Amino acid sequence: MGEFKPLVFSGVQPTGNLHLGNYLGAIRKFVALQENNDCMYCVVDLHALTAQLVHDDMPTQIRSITAAFLAAGIDPKQHIVFNQSQVPQHAELAWIFNCVARLGWMNRMTQFKDKAGKDREQASLGLYAYPSLMAADILVYRATHVPVGEDQKQHLELTRDIAMKFNIDFMEKIRPTGLGVDITVGEEPVHAYFPMVEPLIDGPAPRVMSLKDGTKKMSKSDPSDLSRINLMDDADAISRKIRKAKTDPDALPSEVDGLKGRPEADNLVGIFAALADKTKAEVLSEFGGQQFSVFKPALVDLSIEVLAPINAEMRRLMADPSYIDSVLRDGGARARERAEKTMNEVRDIIGFVR
Ligand code: TYM
Repeated sequence: MGEFKPLVFSGVQPTGNLHLGNYLGAIRKFVALQENNDCMYCVVDLHALTAQLVHDDMPTQIRSITAAFLAAGIDPKQHIVFNQSQVPQHAELAWIFNCVARLGWMNRMTQFKDKAGKDREQASLGLYAYPSLMAADILVYRATHVPVGEDQKQHLELTRDIAMKFNIDFMEKIRPTGLGVDITVGEEPVHAYFPMVEPLIDGPAPRVMSLKDGTKKMSKSDPSDLSRINLMDDADAISRKIRKAKTDPDALPSEVDGLKGRPEADNLVGIFAALADKTKAEVLSEFGGQQFSVFKPALVDLSIEVLAPINAEMRRLMADPSYIDSVLRDGGARARERAEKTMNEVRDIIGFVR
């Protein structure tokens, strides 16, 4: 019985502005995980082609996500920060996974259905295969833990399905290489080459909702900028958006149960808790019984306190693109080395002559 070496991997697409959902659902967790783990954080520029092929300013988008990683506190020396296109092994493993994944599995992906919209015939093949590339991003490093927001849960389940099918289909080829690890999946013993990844979704804000509608996800693609707080928003914009955020007329409850059926209140309390590194229960023990006229200004102050230094550091970094590019090149080289090791093993398991 062996064990996979723990490794944290996650990715963010270089499309549009990063918002508070990306920060609380993902980047803030990336930062916290650095302390006790080996971590790899990737700007997934290949994924950015799936919905839209031609981007106005792809280099700036890639650099701005990188700047956000660094400004939030990710250490690119201790860990690996890179962009996906510098490691061609992701796309190579994705091709193999395209041959592992079944059409029935892909057809169930809700994000594809949402993004493709009504006219599915016009969606790109890349958008359809997107989750297979995502599985390759993770498994080309045999990563074990993936911090993401709740919207990525289904993609990570697919990643496990792909890993499982590869492990089972190739089990007798994996065994003689000595590269596999004996694991149990449910009750079943499996000699696995790829780990069963664990999503890290928990926390007070796994799904940050729109400030205008507590039943809709905060999203880059929402036409109303008032629906989201962008990481590049200044203090005035943050304050205006929170003051205008939709709420209900009641005071805040004292218990978490009291947030049921109050999506906007639940969302704002979750945001406060995540920004303060507290639980919702702790926030409510402080603000229970208070009106939004008291809670909102406190949330404005806290948001500015957390986001202003990140915003300032992002601007400082963006003024020095050659530094950002050097971080990505260095991370890319280190990532390539790891990915090539896996790919050589995968080529041997499959039986490609090399
Ligand atoms: P992307 O770029 O859409 O979003 C980046 C991260 O932000 C999280 N997120 C949210 N979390 C909470 N509330 C929200 N409203 C919210 N909106 C976005 C996302 O869950 C994500 O963690 N498919 C991924 C990118 C990817 C990836 C990977 C992630 C590609 N390969 C491998 C992990 C591992 C995506 O589109 O993220």
